[in-house]
Amino acid sequence: VTAEKAGFDHFMLKEIHEQPKAYRDTMMGRIAEDGKSVTLSKEIGMTTEQIRGISRVHIVACGTAFHAGLVGKTVIESLARIPVETDVASEYRYRSPIITPDTLVIVVSQSGETADTLAALREAKRNGARVLAITNVVGSSVARDADDVITTWAGPEIAVASTKAYSSQLIAFYLLGLYLAQERGTIDQAQVVDIVEAMHRLPEQVESILEQAELFKGVAEAVSKHDNLFFIGRGLDFAVAQEGSLKLKEISYIHSEAYAAGELKHGTLALIEDGIPVIALVTQEDLYEKTLSNIKEVKARGAHVIGIANSGYEDEVAKSVDETFSIPRTLPLLTPALSVVPLQLLSYHASLARGNDVDKPRNLAKSVTVE
Ligand code: AGP
Repeated sequence: VTAEKAGFDHFMLKEIHEQPKAYRDTMMGRIAEDGKSVTLSKEIGMTTEQIRGISRVHIVACGTAFHAGLVGKTVIESLARIPVETDVASEYRYRSPIITPDTLVIVVSQSGETADTLAALREAKRNGARVLAITNVVGSSVARDADDVITTWAGPEIAVASTKAYSSQLIAFYLLGLYLAQERGTIDQAQVVDIVEAMHRLPEQVESILEQAELFKGVAEAVSKHDNLFFIGRGLDFAVAQEGSLKLKEISYIHSEAYAAGELKHGTLALIEDGIPVIALVTQEDLYEKTLSNIKEVKARGAHVIGIANSGYEDEVAKSVDETFSIPRTLPLLTPALSVVPLQLLSYHASLARGNDVDKPRNLAKSVTVE
């Protein structure tokens, strides 16, 4: 078993460290050598005309894969300019979603065996949608039933808490967003080149966060003494906050809530009391001022704020928070692929500090094959 963990204490930690490789492998062969275009024509059997005819996209998934789908919505909307809705699979089927032949349904599943996701996929197909799967398991039920498949090459994920599968799903969404945008003519080549260059830097940037992995131990130990905390952020930071909150809940058993930073004042602010930890993601540069003012609202009520900020901005953010961790600078759209890593490490160390079984948390299964 030790050998399988390659010297790491837990599968989760090993899988966190495998993310740079997972990113490289998921990008491999899908970006042109000259870095000027992305191609998924082997994965997606739709003609340019069919891609141009897509009028809406539904992203359907569960848990962590759903959180990747929240990022996927922003990626596809901003690059390919198609309206996207992201749904939890167990809800999707029962809300009679409006599915037309020009709806592209994207199902996201690490295992490819999640019953809720599979049922949603079948429902979408029955209603005439074209279904594209993003999955980590070649030949899984989801892969077999979908019309088109983008495989994430994260390698087997053993820990119940998903890490490298999530972040590889983000890479798949970036590739997909770029590909759809090229086919629909909503992006120019210079923009593709910029995004692709920034994507190529992500693996090293994750490595640089991992080199400082120990930094998160102290803050995780402090957090592990609390029973309640908050994750806040705006835009993509809010999507990542939701993933960070789920990760912490499932392995540390600490209750946390993720909140859109601007929404706190509409109710949740009443829960902020002296000493409560608030983890604030502040990576979206156009939303900086707004998020910082929301941080001040919680600080004024006694919260202990831990900020995650872009390198170059950490001094600025440090003025408003109690502790700051910086992540390397990338394009705003790509920050989730970096900002999730400190949150994974935080959950891992908080779970350890509480003496929990990190890889096999109570009440949970790796693959949920019941509805
Ligand atoms: C992730 O940490 C969870 N264990 C869980 O939310 C998981 O992502 C969900 O059950 C979906 O699984 P899938 O990706 O295999 O479909």
